[in-house]
Amino acid sequence: MLTAYDYPTARVISKTELDGILVGDSLGMVVLGLENTLKVTMGDMARHVAAVARAKPKQLIVADMPFLSYEVSTNDAVKNAGKLAKYGADSVKLEGGEEITDVIRHIVSAGIPVMGHIGLTPQRFLKLGGFRTVGKRESEAQQLLRDAKALEEAGVFSIVIENTYTEIARKITEAVNVPTICIGAGPYCDGQILVIHDLLGFTEFSPYFAKAYVNLNEIIGKAVEEYVSDVKNGKFPSKENYKEISDNR
Ligand code: KIV
Ligand code: NA
Repeated sequence: MLTAYDYPTARVISKTELDGILVGDSLGMVVLGLENTLKVTMGDMARHVAAVARAKPKQLIVADMPFLSYEVSTNDAVKNAGKLAKYGADSVKLEGGEEITDVIRHIVSAGIPVMGHIGLTPQRFLKLGGFRTVGKRESEAQQLLRDAKALEEAGVFSIVIENTYTEIARKITEAVNVPTICIGAGPYCDGQILVIHDLLGFTEFSPYFAKAYVNLNEIIGKAVEEYVSDVKNGKFPSKENYKEISDNR
């Protein structure tokens, strides 16, 4: 899986063999320039889910439920999940474990598939004490395993495991029957997910667990410089870029 937040990216992805698109709340950081995901709103998510859905990708569209869209009340959670479904999401993803299983049950009961998300849960970085690798302490590792089992029991169709130690992700993958999709949690998972801006080299900095397959920062920078230089030197626009009355076209 990869994230995508807009129409053109979803259009390109649609022609690939990728299995799933996450309209992640990482939107806030990689697209909107925010320092964390806390300020991402339901309005932000709805707009970007709709943009991705308009590309009619063949991939499953998962939409992140943003901070405070599912923690306050079960009613809110079902309404907000429903809103994302109305805007084109095939499913929603919520951060958390045992403590959100009741909410997950209600969303699934409303007919909306839910993906879990454990390990580093960025919406809770304040409580976690930052963006850190989770599970070094045995109690924390045990909690992750309990959370994964509770999520499966609550009816999630898959679980994202973010930024934990590879042995823990492996144990969880062996312990649950739903597919685990990992990011920064090693190779012993059923699938992998990355933020597409990391994959494309289109961020200020990327985490160690990401891999850039191209360098869009460089490609875009060069293209812009070339354009500026062409305009200054009279090389753009050239004959094929404009019409003269006598062209008759
Ligand atoms: O928002 C996001 O991009 C995510 C992935 C890192 C799993 O939740
Ligand atoms: Na997210």
